[in-house]
Amino acid sequence: MYQYDQYDHAFVANRVEQYRGQVSRRLAGDLSEDQFKPLRLMNGLYLQLHAYMLRVAVPYGTLSSGQMRKLAEISRKYDRGYGHFTTRQNIQFNWIKLEQSPDILAELASVEMHAIQTSGNTIRNTTSDPFAGAVAGEIDDPRVWCEIIRQWSTLHPEFSFLPRKFKIAVTGSEDDRAAIKVHDIGLALRRNEAGEIGFEVLVGGGLGRTPMIGKTIREFVSQRDLLSYLEAILRTYNLIGRRDNKYKARIKIMVHELGIDEVRRQVDAEWEHLRNGALVLPDEEVARIRAFFAAPAFETIETPVRSYEVARFEDQAFARWTRTNVAAHRQPGYGIAVISLKPIGGVPGDATAEQMEKVAELAERYSLGEIRVTHTQNLVLPHVRLSDMHSLWQALEEAGLGTANIGLISDIIACPGLDYCALANTRSIPVAQRIQHRVDNIDRQHDLRDLSVKISGCINACGHHHIGNIGILGVDRRGEEYYQITIGGRADENARLGDVIGPAVSYDNVSTAVERLLDAYVQERKDDETFIDTYDRVGLKPFKEAVYVTD
Ligand code: HEM
Ligand code: SF4
Repeated sequence: MYQYDQYDHAFVANRVEQYRGQVSRRLAGDLSEDQFKPLRLMNGLYLQLHAYMLRVAVPYGTLSSGQMRKLAEISRKYDRGYGHFTTRQNIQFNWIKLEQSPDILAELASVEMHAIQTSGNTIRNTTSDPFAGAVAGEIDDPRVWCEIIRQWSTLHPEFSFLPRKFKIAVTGSEDDRAAIKVHDIGLALRRNEAGEIGFEVLVGGGLGRTPMIGKTIREFVSQRDLLSYLEAILRTYNLIGRRDNKYKARIKIMVHELGIDEVRRQVDAEWEHLRNGALVLPDEEVARIRAFFAAPAFETIETPVRSYEVARFEDQAFARWTRTNVAAHRQPGYGIAVISLKPIGGVPGDATAEQMEKVAELAERYSLGEIRVTHTQNLVLPHVRLSDMHSLWQALEEAGLGTANIGLISDIIACPGLDYCALANTRSIPVAQRIQHRVDNIDRQHDLRDLSVKISGCINACGHHHIGNIGILGVDRRGEEYYQITIGGRADENARLGDVIGPAVSYDNVSTAVERLLDAYVQERKDDETFIDTYDRVGLKPFKEAVYVTD
């Protein structure tokens, strides 16, 4: 895991003191709210419906157990005893007092964390695969590259006032668990014919009110050129991205309006004179950063691990959990355990202070002290010996963290909606809970196989509804909460936007509409087909007919 050097420590500590000064001037009335707003936003502090909200970055989704304990402590001391893990590997605290916010940042700095550039028109936290460094078949560890991007992008003087916010994601595996195709820039690690490591670069993806899937701008950028090429894209965007209309300011609009070929031409022209300059990445620097992410000292374990297989045979509930919540590890005898933050009826992505502490303790006991945060708002213990898996699961069950639903219908992404958000049209969280209650039988959920439901309370699409197999968007109909349903979206390496099935349905009818979609799927599916495969084969019609059937 990356460790701050002297420079990083001094930089973050100075930033906290600078912010402390800004807050005291605001409290004394020397700064107006208008003057203060851009300053607080540079430090991740938003003003929401009921209180301030602080967004803290979890770089590339990696947390140590000590950092997780600190997050638990902050939630207890300064908030209401819980935190919310977001879809971009951040954690948000919803009930922050302005006067305490500098102390929170100081506490975060003590564990090498911060909230810089988690807001504003800057390059945000670079996100990544939560299984990085653990999963089998990875081309390279994407965290090395995220850290290099972080160091380049943090307080980059040229990119502190971009036309709009800018989000980058990196994946090192063929399976995309970082949703790179819906990012402003998506980077996929690739190997060229000579066996060298580089990146396929996608640009112009995004959700929000104008959803777009990213397009490949360059098939292969070598590692030495990564930063100069990113700089060329950002510089082009900074110069020609629109500033006259905030809804047309994201790079996706620029790519859409100019076309990818013209954008490529302009980026290449910029790259020409940046390419061999100061941003060339020296091999020694890559090696220095890589050393922080060296694989831990795994034990040599004989496989198959008998105790694990016996436990799976004897304990049905454990076996079920391993089917959805355990992924294959690159090291024989280990597994990657995903901890669901989606119990039936809970708030998707929320974790209490006690749960965070429990996860920290279990990470120390079973996962070499490491934790990851996923873009689907769950947590991961990346390095668990298979022989420990049963004990881990029992401990998770006791803490209410053992739900066996990763990738299943109740593993819902929902934005805060009207419960917290000042921009919301509708509630999102209660809709998620209603759907979860409809399918609370775990055997039924497993029978419905992989199926993603994503819910947003307005067109800003924080809940990723466009890329849900079932997407639900809250719309206002003359002051009433209505929901537009899409199906067929996906967030993986084959990312795609969903199709609207028909007129929006009311709050009271939305979970019934989902239930009817499920019935249509079960009726139409063949053998082991998933919802999305069935949809691809049979199309919209049977689903539409099922939802709008008149009783
Ligand atoms: C309650 C406070 C929140 C507010 C006011 C808010 C506001 C917004 C706005 C205005 C956008 C659209 C920006 C654009 O398209 O240019 C947006 C996008 C987004 N938000 Fe939020 N958001 C909030 C909470 C969250 C939470 C809790 C999450 C994660 C669970 C989240 C994740 C996202 C994502 C992933 C996007 C769209 C992806 C993209 O940039 O294309 N937001 N948000
Ligand atoms: S999608 Fe809309 S309602 Fe939901 S959090 Fe984002 S801005 Fe708020």
